Amino acid sequence: MSLHLGSIAPDFEQDSTHGRLSYHTWLGSSWGVLFSHPKDFTPVCTTELGAAAKLKGEFDKRNVKIAALSVDPLDSHEKWIADIEETQSTKLNYPIFADADRTISNKYDMIHPEANDTLTVRSVFVVDPNKKIRAIITYPASTGRNFDEILRLIDSLQLTDSHKVATPVNWKDGDDVVIVPALQDPAELAQRFPKGYKVVRPYLRVTPQPNR
Ligand code: BEZ
Repeated sequence: MSLHLGSIAPDFEQDSTHGRLSYHTWLGSSWGVLFSHPKDFTPVCTTELGAAAKLKGEFDKRNVKIAALSVDPLDSHEKWIADIEETQSTKLNYPIFADADRTISNKYDMIHPEANDTLTVRSVFVVDPNKKIRAIITYPASTGRNFDEILRLIDSLQLTDSHKVATPVNWKDGDDVVIVPALQDPAELAQRFPKGYKVVRPYLRVTPQPNR
């Protein structure tokens, strides 16, 4: 089954460095970011896991629970965590799933055989509190992801869920946004955007971020 934006994130139960977890139950009413790693004791993954640990406070602020996985077993993860903590100067403060039986990798289609038969690619799934997949990112093993970009993506998803706006190129929290083209009613525009908006083109209307 291929997963699309809007699909329900497949539920699973799997061992992790925080015990055996049922994903949907563990998420509760939080958002989730689930990200895969090709292999334990690899250089790029080590830096990614350290960076994510340092940003956990930022994910917490946004009501997001982060979790990683690779297809290596739990005892390997435990040994690797010691290395990550030492080399990246941080505490690994979120679970890493031990997906040795590929329960998660198969459900989320994280193994791309044309890239590698056995290892997961660098997948990221953003899941909302209704358990819907809201974003999917896929990188090759050779390229580390940008976790600031994942935070930026979540900021955009959370803002655009609650206001009739979209976020333009390179937007970051606090920057101007664009009004969705479907919103045309002058009274609603005035009520939603009391700071006003600039009509660059009829389809391109720019306004200050409404929740600021
Ligand atoms: C890494 O995390 O450094 C890595 C993993 C698999 C292939 C290449 C690099």
